[in-house]
Amino acid sequence: MKVGRITLSDRASAGTYADKSGPEIERVFRDCWGNGEELEFVSHLLPDERTEISNSLRRLADEEDCELIVTTGGTGPTPRDVTPEATRAVIEKELPGFGEIMRMRSFPNVPTAILSRATAGVRGKSLIINLPGNPKAVGECLPLLIPAIREGIDHLRA
Ligand code: MTE
Repeated sequence: MKVGRITLSDRASAGTYADKSGPEIERVFRDCWGNGEELEFVSHLLPDERTEISNSLRRLADEEDCELIVTTGGTGPTPRDVTPEATRAVIEKELPGFGEIMRMRSFPNVPTAILSRATAGVRGKSLIINLPGNPKAVGECLPLLIPAIREGIDHLRA
């Protein structure tokens, strides 16, 4: 399965600090996907610029044929956080349950989880999912979503 992963961070993309969240997406998949299917990752690291994010999502879906695209970062409340808007600009169907369950399951331990506006949706045959930017949040949230990701991809393959 070809997986696109996009890290959205002004500072990581400027080289101010290393991107730990993108590699964490790969780690979770390699640990949790577990059905013997080979995983190939295509990675992008971008600043929090809405047009660049939408273009990157379109490229991974339409040209790279990624069945799954996972973003990390840019889901919060600040003016530079535009990942959900960039995602909504390219999806044909929104799947709000992914964001809902991340917030609901994280909230008891991380009350700030409700500051994330992460969403998800479908573009063509690609499933696109936003995750918060904190690498710990990636490790907490992504494993919860694996069964629905697997089922969603099966539906889109059919
Ligand atoms: N969810 C989990 N599970 N763990 C976290 O540490 N951080 C929250 C939230 N969701 C967090 C989380 C915080 S503090 C913010 S501001 C939002 O995600 C948005 O983060 P982002 O803008 O990096 O996407």
